[in-house]
Amino acid sequence: MGKYAQRRTAKPKDLVGTSKRILKYVFSFKLQIVLVILLIVISVVASVASAYFLKPLINDYILPLVGQQNPDFSGLLGMIGVMACVYLLGAFASFLYTRIMVTISTGTLCKIRMDLFARLQKLPIQYYDTHVHGDIMSRFTNDTDTLRQMLSMTLPQMIQTILSVTITAIIMLVLNLQLSLIVFGMLVVMILSIYFVTSRGQRFFKQVQEAMGDLNGYAEEMIEGQRVIKVFCREAIIKKGFNDINERLRIAGQTSQGCMQVLMPLMANLSYVTYAICAAVGAMMSINGNLDIGTIVSFLEYSRTFSRPITQVSNQFNYIMAALAGAERVFTLLDMPPEVDEGNVTLVYAKKNADGSLQEVEKRTGMWAWKVPHSDGSTELVELKGDVRFEHVVFGYEPNKIVLNDISLYAKPGQKIAFVGSTGAGKTTITNLINRFYDVPDGKIRYDGININKIKKADLRRSLGVVLQDTNLFSGTVLDNIRYGKLDATDEECIAAAKLANADAFIRKLPQGYNTMLEGNGGNLSQGQRQLLSIARAAVADPPVLILDEATSSIDTRTEHLIEEGMDKLMEGRTVFVIAHRLSTVRNSNAILVLEHGQIIERGDHQSLIAEKGKYYQLYTGALELE
Ligand SMILES: Nc1ncnc2c1ncn2[C@@H]1O[C@H](COP(=O)(O)OP(=O)(O)OP(=O)(O)O)[C@@H](O)[C@H]1O
Ligand SMILES: [Mg+2]
Repeated sequence: MGKYAQRRTAKPKDLVGTSKRILKYVFSFKLQIVLVILLIVISVVASVASAYFLKPLINDYILPLVGQQNPDFSGLLGMIGVMACVYLLGAFASFLYTRIMVTISTGTLCKIRMDLFARLQKLPIQYYDTHVHGDIMSRFTNDTDTLRQMLSMTLPQMIQTILSVTITAIIMLVLNLQLSLIVFGMLVVMILSIYFVTSRGQRFFKQVQEAMGDLNGYAEEMIEGQRVIKVFCREAIIKKGFNDINERLRIAGQTSQGCMQVLMPLMANLSYVTYAICAAVGAMMSINGNLDIGTIVSFLEYSRTFSRPITQVSNQFNYIMAALAGAERVFTLLDMPPEVDEGNVTLVYAKKNADGSLQEVEKRTGMWAWKVPHSDGSTELVELKGDVRFEHVVFGYEPNKIVLNDISLYAKPGQKIAFVGSTGAGKTTITNLINRFYDVPDGKIRYDGININKIKKADLRRSLGVVLQDTNLFSGTVLDNIRYGKLDATDEECIAAAKLANADAFIRKLPQGYNTMLEGNGGNLSQGQRQLLSIARAAVADPPVLILDEATSSIDTRTEHLIEEGMDKLMEGRTVFVIAHRLSTVRNSNAILVLEHGQIIERGDHQSLIAEKGKYYQLYTGALELE
């Protein structure tokens, strides 16, 4: 297995359970299912019957006419007419059930994809930390597609095959025992040769799948890494790497297909042999007077329809197994436990009455309150002030690797708290805890005196405006992207937010101004511009508490000043946590916390920390001298 290939198996682990779950989805189309089964039965019976008609056709309507002076063809024509009708009925039934199966399968898959996406929105951030995105993606694409094909084509075909083989076998037995035994004997030979060929081919087939996985992974990685590849002039090496995998795929493909291609002619020939033997034996029996011609012709027709689908059955079986394995991967994702949210404290708009008490209101007032339910059924409103405290917080992304160690800190309402520290010190991690991307196992975080575990996640996050370290923009116009912060914001509000974030000037210079389309995560903007947009996005939400995780990328001094000004304006009157890599951004903070290896090692304002000549001094003297 190559390093790019995802671990995909072709066999489901829990065959019954997975099939049951698929059926549960499929059975939401009850009426259609009943129709399909009915139509499959009609189509099978029709095809079996049309061969059966050969017997009376020959015995009763053709043979008696042989040698007659003025043969009466009316009976024969009538019989042919009946056969044509039955044929047509069968063809129509199979056309119809295929159409209905398409409706069922696309509908089922639509529902599964919907559930899958809904589940993705509910998963904790941790899931995304630990799963390859390409693998999550392939559940939407490959896995669902094989499942769709299985439902719409393979499964009904398989049912039809099994049904028609069973009925045919019974009829053959009824028609003639000896000839049937010949056909069944040859069947065993056929099955054995299929088994022999496919088990050899399967090894190569697996190699094809692995090489295919490698090829996809390699291509994906190299497409994403184009810039780096060009910078380091690695084109030739990359090409060679690709060619190697490609060649491996070619060889495996050639061998496996070669194996499989033997199968078709082999089966065809075996089936001709069966036919010939039956014909010869039948003819002998007929000469001896043990068998009539009509039965022989009818039987020969059955022996052909009997062996025809045998080649497909093994393919269909493998396909169904692969589809079930895919479905299992889909269900595993669907079964991932969602982000737990046991919080019952909600965020509401509030206003202050004349007597100083709080009252919940419908409309946005610029004042918020936490609605805290008590066990006796009553609720209490607590004004949202933006007081955030950490009490002895210990946290690690993985159980045995502590990232934050005994962190205690406070931010009083309206204060600006800055985190500084070397890379990997744990600054972003602290902010991840405030918005509950991760839960704290030890210690407490209080927000206006309320343990944040008690606050409903969505409401907690609504109260926080976050500018993340990595800027993510969505496909859409600039205006759409700003509006992401508050969906019902008017154009004017968005533009005001852009002005506040100092993004207005550059947006107006874009080809279509605020209506310029952004594509591929804002690839057509510069880093600094993207950051200004994400600040505007946070600004439009007008949240009481702000978290700004400044990107580390170096931005030109002019943009830096713009960002700084934008941030400063945004910070007025709010509690702000800012992670800064530039001295200018943190200097006017109420408190600067210096983190090192997940611990707060210094705390104070700019003057006092500089005077202390500790880590802060060290971190920033370089920057100071530059100014
Ligand atoms: N999702 C994650 N899973 C596991 N470990 C992580 C994860 N994110 C960060 N870490 C680890 O936690 C530590 C702190 O990371 P954090 O992102 O908080 O650093 P930071 O102070 O924000 O650094 P920077 O200045 O580079 O942004 C690092 O050692 C990092 O390896
Ligand atoms: Mg960080």
